[in-house]
Amino acid sequence: MKYTKLGNSDLTVSRVCMGCMGFGDAARGQHSWTLDEEHSREIIRRGLELGVNFFDTAIGYQSGTSEQYLGRALRDFAGRDEVVVATKFLPRTAQEIENGVSGQQHIENMINTSLSNLNMDYVDLYIYHMWDCNTPIEDILDGLNRVVKAGKARYIGISNCFAWQLAKANALAEKEGFAKFISVQGHYNLIFREEEREMAPYCAEENIALTPYSALASGRLSRKPGENTTKRAAEDAYAKFKYDATAQQDGIKKSNRRYMMTSTRWMKLSALLLAIALLFTLAACGKTQTTTETQTQSAASNVETKAADPTAAANTPQSGAETTAQPQSTDAKTLVVYFSATGTTKGVAQTIASATGADLYEITAAQTYTEADLNWNDKNSRTTLEQNDKSVRPAIGSETISLDGYSTIFIGYPIWWGEEPRIMDTFVESYDLSGKTVIPFCTSGGSGIGSSGKNLEANAGGGNWLEGERLSKSSDVEGWLKDMGY
Ligand SMILES: Cc1cc2nc3c(=O)[nH]c(=O)nc-3n(C[C@H](O)[C@H](O)[C@H](O)COP(=O)(O)O)c2cc1C
Repeated sequence: MKYTKLGNSDLTVSRVCMGCMGFGDAARGQHSWTLDEEHSREIIRRGLELGVNFFDTAIGYQSGTSEQYLGRALRDFAGRDEVVVATKFLPRTAQEIENGVSGQQHIENMINTSLSNLNMDYVDLYIYHMWDCNTPIEDILDGLNRVVKAGKARYIGISNCFAWQLAKANALAEKEGFAKFISVQGHYNLIFREEEREMAPYCAEENIALTPYSALASGRLSRKPGENTTKRAAEDAYAKFKYDATAQQDGIKKSNRRYMMTSTRWMKLSALLLAIALLFTLAACGKTQTTTETQTQSAASNVETKAADPTAAANTPQSGAETTAQPQSTDAKTLVVYFSATGTTKGVAQTIASATGADLYEITAAQTYTEADLNWNDKNSRTTLEQNDKSVRPAIGSETISLDGYSTIFIGYPIWWGEEPRIMDTFVESYDLSGKTVIPFCTSGGSGIGSSGKNLEANAGGGNWLEGERLSKSSDVEGWLKDMGY
């Protein structure tokens, strides 16, 4: 387990936080699919064993029963100071407003109920669950500050808000000398990426932690399409509301068809998607850490590195579902590696790189291929001889490249005699591709990609290889990338 500081706080949290919305009495709340106490405890216990120390619940989850289950489990399985506990409060009810209950009083009542549910003296993070349009933000901040001063919460966070709301609230808190929000819990995953536009850059600037919820889109990114066999998938009306209407635009079905060749690969992709969400969170959580990661990148001279464009997220289309900007985290970068004897593959590679924001790396041969070498009508030409012998490994002339930090690698080449040029085998055997998603593509005079992708996969001996594609010209690229969910 990896641990990190939560924004501008002293809280050291596991990078994986256990969200507790799925725990609670199914008869007492919004969700019919939540787990009973016995099964919730099993998961909490296993999380602790695996190093999870960060738990996030809410008074609104199944009428406080999620808090109760969590509190009892943590009391039995962990020391209070070994865990970081977050809970959330709801807006004032119409009844409270009618009865003249102020924002400050409401918050005090809520924290007292939550602490009683959790059977704890304090929570580490107290979260303003959703913006309360009927209560002045001054009252909310004052109420939260009182909670912090009383020692009932160590820090405060916010959830489900616009970047401008958070900026406004923290500016006001600073002016008044109140506790400021150190974290924001927004809806973020690879289907819904709105947070990348305004919130993430703002949080990076202010060192506010992003603790995204629905990192796997309520399970949609953790199963094959059509595998909606869980009780939650069948009954979670809120998740259906969030994702079903845009499923087609999101390209989930298409991209899954391409990605999901085997269930093992599917599991790897789920882990990858979760990792990307986590990496992106980290990138926005601390400038210092992001800088360190950037500094450790090695930049070989062959790599045309695209400077991370700080405005990229802001320039993405207005609909969250159509957002195409890639995560800016240095750990989740994409690389397009290619070999091209006469320039066709090079053009396609450049198009892919500019569409995905990837870096480019050109494989050149130590001994350049001359026109005579490329003459396929000559049975004694260099290429004919090389292609006839699967064991030939022409030397690479380009400088070596560090693949650290690249999670996805497109790998492109021309088809020679129905297969990959042998220099591509030199490449895949020279580098460790394990843990990377590798996407082959080729150009040709008409042949398909054939067995070349599979040959390379076998010779590489590592990496999560996706099905390859023949792209005869740059204009083929757009549709192909779209099919893969880019
Ligand atoms: C030695 C050699 C063998 C080739 N074999 C095939 C082939 O089997 N099938 C095919 O469709 N094209 C074949 N081609 C054509 C190339 O695949 C095609 O022109 C490719 O787009 C060239 O890419 P490049 O410009 O990046 O080198 C061959 C080309 C060469 C030089």
